[in-house]
Amino acid sequence: MQKPHWHVLGAGAIGCLFAQGLHRSGSTTTLVMRRGVTVRSLPVVVEHDGQRCEQHLPVITPDDTAEISHLLITTKAYDVHSAVSGIAKLLSDNCVVLLLVNGLGLAEKLRADYPHLDVFCGTTTEGAYQLSAQHIQHAGRGETRVGRAGQDTPPAWFEGFARATDACVWDSDIDSALWSKLAVNCIINPLTAVSGCRNGELARSSELSAQVEALCSEVADISRAAGFDNIAEKLRPAVSAVIAGTADNRSSMLQDIERGRQTEIDYITGYLLKIAEQHGIQAPKNRSLLERIRNRAP
Ligand SMILES: NC(=O)c1ccc[n+]([C@@H]2O[C@H](COP(=O)([O-])OP(=O)(O)OC[C@H]3O[C@@H](n4cnc5c(N)ncnc54)[C@H](OP(=O)(O)O)[C@@H]3O)[C@@H](O)[C@H]2O)c1
Repeated sequence: MQKPHWHVLGAGAIGCLFAQGLHRSGSTTTLVMRRGVTVRSLPVVVEHDGQRCEQHLPVITPDDTAEISHLLITTKAYDVHSAVSGIAKLLSDNCVVLLLVNGLGLAEKLRADYPHLDVFCGTTTEGAYQLSAQHIQHAGRGETRVGRAGQDTPPAWFEGFARATDACVWDSDIDSALWSKLAVNCIINPLTAVSGCRNGELARSSELSAQVEALCSEVADISRAAGFDNIAEKLRPAVSAVIAGTADNRSSMLQDIERGRQTEIDYITGYLLKIAEQHGIQAPKNRSLLERIRNRAP
């Protein structure tokens, strides 16, 4: 099969990492930039382990007339809908859309708003941050899981897409992978953000450990109600493992707050609480964190 032409919407840290990976593995790859960008191509620079790799990629904006058949979305969660609506007229019928964005609820809304799109979801533990525009540091290799609920075998485009990174797998139970990430994120991200601490502090401080415990208990109840019993049973050890494995990291939510940026809380804890409400579950500790983050009152 001829490799599809990928358009990458959201040329930030993760977008540049995957755009360069797709380009290097032989897929035609174009960056979709905001309206007003006038250049026709941009250098994308990825630094990793002291090595620098620079590739020039073509650029389009919402004012172009290109037809997009395969779209990788790597904006922050809160930008997905405005970014997609800006280029909606460029999306072909049955356009493949792969959402590689943290948080939940986005795919459902995209499917409702644009029923003609073929929406897939992904989650990644790759780590990257921007040094400057389209110049990124690849901070840690991870695994990317891609799938769609109810689809056991990957579509034809997946094989080519998977070559963009070292470890990309098709996940026939992607909903569990996404929920599992959400459950862990609901505990570590907001708590480190309001406490202003690195992840490891959640295990070192007895006060924070007790808060982790209480949050885990609420998130486990909601996970069970949502049908993710397995994730509920293993949540506490899973959270401990992530805290230990990322002890020196400052969570993305903490970094967003420190830089005065919007956070993805509405798509993480906000989504969790929406599911809790559907099942009549109170989750006061999670609600309090949501409100503190929204009000930026650490
Ligand atoms: N970075 C990581 O290590 C990592 C790891 C795992 C998961 N994730 C998740 O991946 C997603 C992306 O994260 P990130 O760190 O790559 O974010 P990021 O560096 O902020 O990149 C997002 C990019 O989207 C662009 N964008 C927003 N609206 C747009 C629009 N309408 N048209 C075109 N471009 C638009 C932004 O441009 P502007 O700068 O102009 O706003 C920015 O370049 C998030 O959900 C994050 O949680 C990140």
